[in-house]
Amino acid sequence: MIAVTIGIGEKYELLAELAAESCRRRTGMQTFVLGAQAMQKHQLAHPHHLKFKMFTEFPKEENILYFDADTIFLRNCSFCQFENKPDLVCVNDLADKGWVTQDARRAGVRPTEYFNSGFFIVNRTHHEKMLAKAEALLATIKSPFKDQTHLNAARAQLKIPVHWLPKEFNWLDFHLTVKPGHNIVIGHMHGMAKRTAEQIRWFYQFWQNPASDFYPRVGRGDAILKRIQTVKQPIGAEVGVLRGTLSAYLLGARPDLHLTMVDPWKQSEAGSRYEQSGSTFGFTKQGTFDQYYATALKRTAFADYRRRVIRARSLEAVPQVANGSLDFAFIDADHTYEGVIEDIRAWLPKLKPHGLLCGHDFEFKQYPKWGVKKAVDEISAELKLSYERDEDFTWFIRLRSA
Ligand SMILES: C[S@@+](CC[C@H](N)C(=O)[O-])C[C@H]1O[C@@H](n2cnc3c(N)ncnc32)[C@H](O)[C@@H]1O
Repeated sequence: MIAVTIGIGEKYELLAELAAESCRRRTGMQTFVLGAQAMQKHQLAHPHHLKFKMFTEFPKEENILYFDADTIFLRNCSFCQFENKPDLVCVNDLADKGWVTQDARRAGVRPTEYFNSGFFIVNRTHHEKMLAKAEALLATIKSPFKDQTHLNAARAQLKIPVHWLPKEFNWLDFHLTVKPGHNIVIGHMHGMAKRTAEQIRWFYQFWQNPASDFYPRVGRGDAILKRIQTVKQPIGAEVGVLRGTLSAYLLGARPDLHLTMVDPWKQSEAGSRYEQSGSTFGFTKQGTFDQYYATALKRTAFADYRRRVIRARSLEAVPQVANGSLDFAFIDADHTYEGVIEDIRAWLPKLKPHGLLCGHDFEFKQYPKWGVKKAVDEISAELKLSYERDEDFTWFIRLRSA
């Protein structure tokens, strides 16, 4: 069995190469990228249509594992047990999504029998005709999808049986949905081609690094990133860093960002405000904090020339940062009202005109001693500036010019 993906156009070529590399590493299979030349040879209207031509492109191969270019192989896996079987091997698409129901209807299958065509295993004996049929159906089935509707329809019409793999073998939008404990083997990342080449490379490196065995702060990270999109060489501070997960995400996504990372990584004293706040990290032992500190350093080591780590409490770190120097300050430390209001007042003068005051964990009913909302309401009224809420419990206040 060989593995095949398609990469046409600058971003997709890069994605396909990185995806292919992850496939080789995790499966040991010979992995090929079909490119512009193959598309031209077959005079195809769309790169996806190369899926229909795989057995022509690899005339000596009997079994092919196909995956889209925005895929990443995260764990070691082997698929040889599926060679030459009558079943198409694939993963069900998100059956609970409206568009899946709609497209399944278009293809003439039930949503529970509708597969995602970003990953599947086929063999010449049993499935070559399915690929040909799908191509022929392009003429009769009108669909916004370039191949998925037609492949599903072809499979159903030819009554090809399916071997469903668990969703961990083609976890859709995994970079947005993965949580600790998920055991994802192959992930699919939509929207990658919109990112810069540098960001794409970073994503693959990040996910393949064994130290990155955690879920990234995509929600809160993107909420910050979209607000500093037009700022060149932004300078920011994260107050409360923990394992450096958000720091790593921000530094990776913005290769021109300089970030000050502030955290004492220190066990709280018994009866302290932080301990009483109910936060897990108010009870965390020193040994664990030392590990978190080491992890934060390791995770951000790729950007060590752009990070500044201050191992101190927020208020002790403040004098080490120049007034009016920051494009954003992200407050994510002691979540009590007193802790947040102190941090806000201390970090406010550090921001540039039009800088972004922001933070995390806006409102949590299960932590009655937290007071992020109260502090943000208060400062918003005082500054006569409204705040915005965004993904992942974030809040933002954009300052006016001085
Ligand atoms: C919720 S975690 C931060 C998560 C991190 N921002 C992220 O997104 O990955 C809270 C962190 O705040 C730190 N912390 C608690 N009190 C602090 C203080 N006074 N100054 C700075 N950091 C503090 C804790 O040590 C802990 O690591």
